[in-house]
Amino acid sequence: MVIGGGGREHALAWQIARSSRVEKVFVAPGNAGTALIAENLDILPTDIKTLGKIAQDRGIELVIVGPEIPLALGIVDYFDSQGIPVFGPTKVAAQIESSKVFARNLMVKYHIPCPRGKIFSSYVEAHTYLEQQRLPVVVKADGLAAGKGVIIANSKEQAAKTLDGIMKAKCFGSAGDKVIIDEYLSGREVSLIAFTDGKTVLPMVPACDYKKVWDNDQGPNTGGMGSYSPPEFFPAELIEKATKDILLPAVRAMASEGISYKGVLYAGLMLTDGEFSVLEFNCRFGDPETQAILPLLKSDFVDILLAVIQGNLNQIKIEWRSGACVGVVMASAGYPGNYKKGLPIRGLNEVGKDLSVFHAGTRLGNDGIVYTNGGRVLSLVGTGKNVAEAREKVYSDISKIYFEGCQYRKDIALREVI
Ligand code: AMP
Ligand code: GLY
Repeated sequence: MVIGGGGREHALAWQIARSSRVEKVFVAPGNAGTALIAENLDILPTDIKTLGKIAQDRGIELVIVGPEIPLALGIVDYFDSQGIPVFGPTKVAAQIESSKVFARNLMVKYHIPCPRGKIFSSYVEAHTYLEQQRLPVVVKADGLAAGKGVIIANSKEQAAKTLDGIMKAKCFGSAGDKVIIDEYLSGREVSLIAFTDGKTVLPMVPACDYKKVWDNDQGPNTGGMGSYSPPEFFPAELIEKATKDILLPAVRAMASEGISYKGVLYAGLMLTDGEFSVLEFNCRFGDPETQAILPLLKSDFVDILLAVIQGNLNQIKIEWRSGACVGVVMASAGYPGNYKKGLPIRGLNEVGKDLSVFHAGTRLGNDGIVYTNGGRVLSLVGTGKNVAEAREKVYSDISKIYFEGCQYRKDIALREVI
């Protein structure tokens, strides 16, 4: 059973369904895409007890959790207590994402490279400190804020307004009880995501995502408008170095704090002149990175998930295909602001067979038609022998899929080919 209903979860369910060990896949709540390869269960990812009950009633032998919120709420602890095999970190381990202050304290204590910054729980002290910082300056809410809790301020006024919003108006609720004020780093960002059983760390192929809604990184932030893997600027030596200097030390640091970290660990890295800095840790697979990573996995996905749960990841070798993936998100008009739902999607079967269409905000109508049901609607992923070929495949077919007002970025992975 895969928990979640986005493009990431469709990609997870798709890889799981390909395993020779798997008879049947459930997705809760899933979408119109997962309905084609699995049975959707109409249960919210936060309804942990009901999910546990259905897992037991249906004899589900493996659960994998997509989104961060159920992890932060302790879904893994609950399933463990019920004897249901589950892939993901426990509630205390998920703090590496659910509290930026926790993650920052851990990095500072264990010398894991991160931006220079300071933590505040007093608004007055934060305000005074902010006044003295060079611009741009980065203000981060401590808790989960659906990817909106980090603001890069280009003026003192914007910085003060941001701080007021987070700490006084509590626009993110208690997630804004504390803030981190960071120096601004420039460079290239990469997401390095690894499997870990708390001892061994095996990285996936790296990926880059695009957070801004419009081309050339213009407009507001979104949940992600596209991704590609692997970036040329992050070769095998850097993967090895980042595993040795960042991912392994983080897992060991957690162990030193008495926390066994199992599942996936996602490091959002900034690469500046060959040196890394950790911008964030996440306790789960990235979205939309996963859609561009999993098609490159050659090994049996379920073997890896079970090795993590059983604590014998050291006995596994993960194989990746050579080649590359480029994923472009098709979003509703108006996203990330207000948008319409319920628009029919045409042409889903007209794209090339070697493209993957991962669904996110979609719903299968009783009439058999697929309708839009969210802001990010689909990820169209092309696989090729290199980024240029993968990119060409996606963009030559994307206009075959259509829904009213559909918007997508035209520049995903463009920097790799010019
Ligand atoms: P986070 O959730 O911490 O990864 O932050 C979201 C995004 O904000 C990152 O992907 C970066 O693009 C940006 N960001 C976060 N921290 C910094 C920083 N110290 N310097 C520059 N950009 C940052
Ligand atoms: N793509 C960013 C994230 O999954 O947090």
